[in-house]
Amino acid sequence: MADNKSLTLSREEMRTAGEDVLDLVIDHFLHNHERSVTKPTDPAMLARWLQEPIPETGMDLGEVIEEFKEKALNTMTHLDHPRCFAFVPSPNNFVSALAEFMSSSFNIFAGAWLGPSGVAAIEMKSIDWLKTLIGLPKDSGGLFVSGGSMANLTALAVARHIKLQNNPTNAAVYFSDQTHSSVPKGLKILGFQPYQIRSIASDVHMRLPLESLAQRIDEDRKRGLVPFCVIANAGTTNAGAIDPLEDLVEFCKEQGLWLHVDGAYGGATAITQTGKTLLKGIEKADSITIDPHKWMFQPYEIGCLLVRDTHHLKEAFKVTAEYLDVLEDNGEQTNFCDHGVQLTRGFRALKFWMSLKTFGLKNFRDAVDQGINNAEYVQSLLERDPRWEIITDANIGVINFRFNPGYALSPGFHNQLSRDIILDGFAMITPTRIKDMEVLRICAINPRTTQQDFELTINKLTAMAEERLPAKLTA
Ligand SMILES: Cc1ncc(COP(=O)(O)O)c(C=O)c1O
Repeated sequence: MADNKSLTLSREEMRTAGEDVLDLVIDHFLHNHERSVTKPTDPAMLARWLQEPIPETGMDLGEVIEEFKEKALNTMTHLDHPRCFAFVPSPNNFVSALAEFMSSSFNIFAGAWLGPSGVAAIEMKSIDWLKTLIGLPKDSGGLFVSGGSMANLTALAVARHIKLQNNPTNAAVYFSDQTHSSVPKGLKILGFQPYQIRSIASDVHMRLPLESLAQRIDEDRKRGLVPFCVIANAGTTNAGAIDPLEDLVEFCKEQGLWLHVDGAYGGATAITQTGKTLLKGIEKADSITIDPHKWMFQPYEIGCLLVRDTHHLKEAFKVTAEYLDVLEDNGEQTNFCDHGVQLTRGFRALKFWMSLKTFGLKNFRDAVDQGINNAEYVQSLLERDPRWEIITDANIGVINFRFNPGYALSPGFHNQLSRDIILDGFAMITPTRIKDMEVLRICAINPRTTQQDFELTINKLTAMAEERLPAKLTA
């Protein structure tokens, strides 16, 4: 029986709406490829929607779903689209979407053990699998968080606690200028001042140069600063560059520094043979960010922080309260609320666990390998036309390039080209800057992208670049 007073629906209403939504979702997974990546938005229409008053009385759920289609679905940018090459694309999967539905339907609390908890056990097992894939030792640990930014922030909070006993006065932290913005953002949140945050110029391969790092740390020590942490990249967002992890492990050990590796983007390649070789050394870091909602095909939000010594999480985060005494553990239970910021937390592990069990690691590995190969295929296509200049070679799924007709193009040319292709809706490519050079960047990690998608996209982009050449504009 429907009872709007207790916010419940009848069996029939739930079934009707559920079937409608399921059909919509299945249609998306089957036909996403045939549709536009982006849709032009109408500012006047958005302005009208923003006037919507609070609905004092309810309306038919079917109509609300229709409104969702009109307002969100029909105007959104599909980062899971096989021709979305912007940022880090997010090709999710249906099994994980089902897991999310169950997780929120049963409103599964994953903050604490609460009984003989299979819920915590599934998260522990999922973390255990990730530890194994990275090659961390048995007594390492971790937890799922909302994404890479939160995992980096959590790691920095642990490093601050363990190395500085939470007193950041005069402490200094080091990373390359290619490091993701979530790292300086996290440091800002944790109270570090600009003079304590050392961004070091990357080398020609966009990597953190060990010599400059050592020199900077030496100088800082002489000035009275207290170096305590280095953040290395296992796949930069810009170019997929991997810092010299083995050397950094050695260096940080000698210097008594915490080494955090941001593998939010590239960490997933550790499941492939190529990645294992490229990321050698990652398994010896003090903490690692890896983001299943990037290259492990999960829907938002699931990031993961792994730490070499699981006790460090509890030391950094556990705070007691009388109303939480009931959660007191005897050492055998895991209360994830004591391992991070959140007390109430959703069951993020379920989607990771269910999809890995359903598809198997081999299919995940092949899908990641496919992304690595995809970027190499894009490079081979670009190299067919000498006007496309490769700025950074295809590197774990990412490539940067620019149009170079043999004379200088006006500033903003590539930004405009990106806008052209985004407005067209066929594909999405965004610009970035590499060593102050304006370039286009393709991140090609979607395993559903076909060779034909890449060919058509590069052909379209070439035609658009030709259209924008000055001679054409003035003709
Ligand atoms: C290397 C790297 N670190 C951290 C992040 C931040 O992750 P999130 O967007 O999940 O917060 C990103 C996002 O692209 C990234 O590429």
